[in-house]
Amino acid sequence: MNKKFYVTTPIYYVNDIPHIGHAYTTVAADILARHNRLLGNEVFFLTGTDEHGQKVEKAAREKNRFPKEHADIMVRNFMDLWKKLNISNDGFIRTTDDAHIRTVQGLLQMLLDRGEIERREYSGWYCTPDERFWTEKDLLDGKCPDCGRPVEQIHEENYFFLMSKYQERLIEYIEKNPAYILPETRKNEVLGFLRNNALGDLCISRPKQRLSWGIPLPFDDNFVTYVWFDALVNYFSATRYLAPDAGKAGQGDFWWPSDHHLVGKDILTTHAVYWSTMLMALNLPLPVNIFAHGWWTIEGKKMSKSLGNVVDPNAVAEKYGADALRYFLVREVPFGLDGDYSEDALINRINTDLANDLGNLLSRFLTMAEKYSAGEIGAPEKQTSIASLSEEHKDACSTAAADSLLEENWDYLRFTHILDRIWDIIRASNNYIAQTEPWKLARNDSEAVKDVLYGVWNALRMSAVLLYPFMPDTSEKLWRQLGLSSLKEDVAGCVFEASEKGGKATIFEWDWRPACPVKVSKGDQLFPRIEKKNEEEKKELQANAAGEKAASAQNVISINDFAKLEMKIGKVLDAERVKKSDKLLKLQVDTGEMRQVVAGIGKAYAPEDLIGKKIVVVTNLQPAKLMGNESNGMLLAATGRDGTPVILMPERDVEEGSRIK
Ligand code: ME8
Ligand code: MG
Repeated sequence: MNKKFYVTTPIYYVNDIPHIGHAYTTVAADILARHNRLLGNEVFFLTGTDEHGQKVEKAAREKNRFPKEHADIMVRNFMDLWKKLNISNDGFIRTTDDAHIRTVQGLLQMLLDRGEIERREYSGWYCTPDERFWTEKDLLDGKCPDCGRPVEQIHEENYFFLMSKYQERLIEYIEKNPAYILPETRKNEVLGFLRNNALGDLCISRPKQRLSWGIPLPFDDNFVTYVWFDALVNYFSATRYLAPDAGKAGQGDFWWPSDHHLVGKDILTTHAVYWSTMLMALNLPLPVNIFAHGWWTIEGKKMSKSLGNVVDPNAVAEKYGADALRYFLVREVPFGLDGDYSEDALINRINTDLANDLGNLLSRFLTMAEKYSAGEIGAPEKQTSIASLSEEHKDACSTAAADSLLEENWDYLRFTHILDRIWDIIRASNNYIAQTEPWKLARNDSEAVKDVLYGVWNALRMSAVLLYPFMPDTSEKLWRQLGLSSLKEDVAGCVFEASEKGGKATIFEWDWRPACPVKVSKGDQLFPRIEKKNEEEKKELQANAAGEKAASAQNVISINDFAKLEMKIGKVLDAERVKKSDKLLKLQVDTGEMRQVVAGIGKAYAPEDLIGKKIVVVTNLQPAKLMGNESNGMLLAATGRDGTPVILMPERDVEEGSRIK
């Protein structure tokens, strides 16, 4: 019997658009799902969106939309991104789904009936703009510790989940199940928190007059459910209506509990404490594992809208390919630790691991195969002159492959380690070619050449399969170029061979082989090298882009806006061409003060034509760099009929430095 495998991502808030942080967790879950499908397990991979609560209500209000209308629009961003990144989720849950709402209400009623929920007087300090409660000791100088604004004391009735009584049981559970919370450091944090603090009860309701966008409590229509209670239940409710065969009779609790909840470290407490105790109170089994991964910063800075450094995975995937992004995210830092994203680091990974190691191996192999054996690959019939090197290569590849597949490595989500082992195969094969020098063997030892080609082909074939979870497109490309699609349409279709464990070798092993010979064929290069712009140019681009962002993007300006513009008459004292540019001229201009202005007028004007002329210059423009030359202002020019610039000059002589209004 094959195992079931159920993996989840957080359900993301639809108040905002997805960024690489969201892509990260979802890619990781996809890798686990694809790996398990190859193993022949029955997989349910769930992702989705969190659509109730204050954050979403507020975001919708700002856009003048109803919350559900807003959610319907925003959810597309997630669905489209997952398509673009080749995410193979089996279900997509939205917390506004009727079936989910019914499950949440059913569970709430059940908890109330069992005495796990109580109605209580509640008072606390409320920050209205932040829409959240603080306790007395949270306050800073009597003000909101988050925003510093005044808070007001609010008394209200609310419903509480009696979480506190599960404190000891939860501690015990975590101690007895060392892989329940991973990585270990996070587990220790949770344990430390639970041992040193008294766990309170959890307020699970919000009065409707304060928040209406939520699931109504089934037993009191004046309240909606606290968004986290609603959100966490998604993992369970999805098994009832989104899992494969969820509706089939007799499925019972086939899918629950999940094998992995993947989350970021920001939401570990809600999962490790709220969700675990909710499940205990519901008498439901706890998930096998909650894995809290680390946090991405962008070039050392926190990713934030106000800093304008939010990385859009769509743009990255479009520029470098989904596979390169997927690979980078799980290769760059061990899963669980924090990471820093930069385009530079991404390009380095592409150029070294993907273009140099993997891409080169494939293209060297295909070139040799075409040249020496007309693309036909088969096992050598007898011992060859390089048999011992071949044996070494085979051992290195087999060991690495076996290690990359170890259950323990996958149970602990050691993606970097697994990829390291796969790269051992790739590097061993590049080495093997260097050592055997097939271009020399080709002169008089065709059997040895056949041996090398077969060895490398086999290593690439294993790599294609092992890489499938990480880079599905690349894997399929390898598969086709290695001539394997005539045998099995695609890697994803290899499930049977992968799981077939009797006698015959599995698709993951060296001795698995199709009826040889197979015919390989060169296709597109997997990963072309990316030429990095030189540092200078890049800094210019960034500096200019930052300047641009600071400018407002409105179409109309007020008279006050116009008054901000400072324009003066300038006299051109000197002019020369910018080296290596046929467009740019570098002018020294006297506008009352000396300044250098670089302008794209070099095709229409010769430098000597301009010397002594009076022109119009915008003098309070943020300085920019153009091909290494500082430009301090902009001259005004009209666009002539044929598109060439025509410089504006005063109709009568005016003194340089005089202001234009
Ligand atoms: O918290 N680095 O949704 P959310 C790494 N709706 N991962 C990041 C990240 C970063 N900089 N930024 C975001 C919610 N993430 C709730 C979840 S679950 C029942 C409800 C990822 O839209 C990471 O997985 O704020 C994090 O936990 C999640 O996005 C938060 O997404
Ligand atoms: Mg968040």
